[in-house]
Amino acid sequence: MKIGLISDTHDKIQNIRKAVRIFNDKHVDLVIHAGDFVNPIAVESLAGVKLVVGVLGNNDTDLAGLISTFDKIHGELKGEIFETVYDGLKFAIYHGTNLAKREQIIKSGKYDVIIYGHTHRKDNRFIGTTRVINPGTAKGFFGLFATIAVFDTSSRKLEFINL
Ligand code: NI
Repeated sequence: MKIGLISDTHDKIQNIRKAVRIFNDKHVDLVIHAGDFVNPIAVESLAGVKLVVGVLGNNDTDLAGLISTFDKIHGELKGEIFETVYDGLKFAIYHGTNLAKREQIIKSGKYDVIIYGHTHRKDNRFIGTTRVINPGTAKGFFGLFATIAVFDTSSRKLEFINL
């Protein structure tokens, strides 16, 4: 399956719409958002994709608004840390607000794939047998490109895409 990865959209609606078009062109089966939507409008802007699975970032403080908007788009808001299995791979998804906690999850060796955000920097490496991925920021900050990514669970290939 193909999984769209996006994070740290920080209300940049124009880029979110662009990402939705790209994810749909690539026929992703679902989109994981690794947190820092900020306002519910950012969630609503993701409505065009098949399924949005999200975790909360440090700037996602309007919890009631975010929950009701996730309901509206039939997405799944999973709290701070979400563990799941996609296509036989054990995933952990965590925004990465607490660096020590992020490192603990990575070094636990319990997961095949970790998806995180928060640093606004792309990441794609192995720590032991764990694939550690950050799609970067879809907003773009301080001279950093706005990026998203697509992960293919069959080929294990990761593609970064500039918005
Ligand atoms: Ni953050």
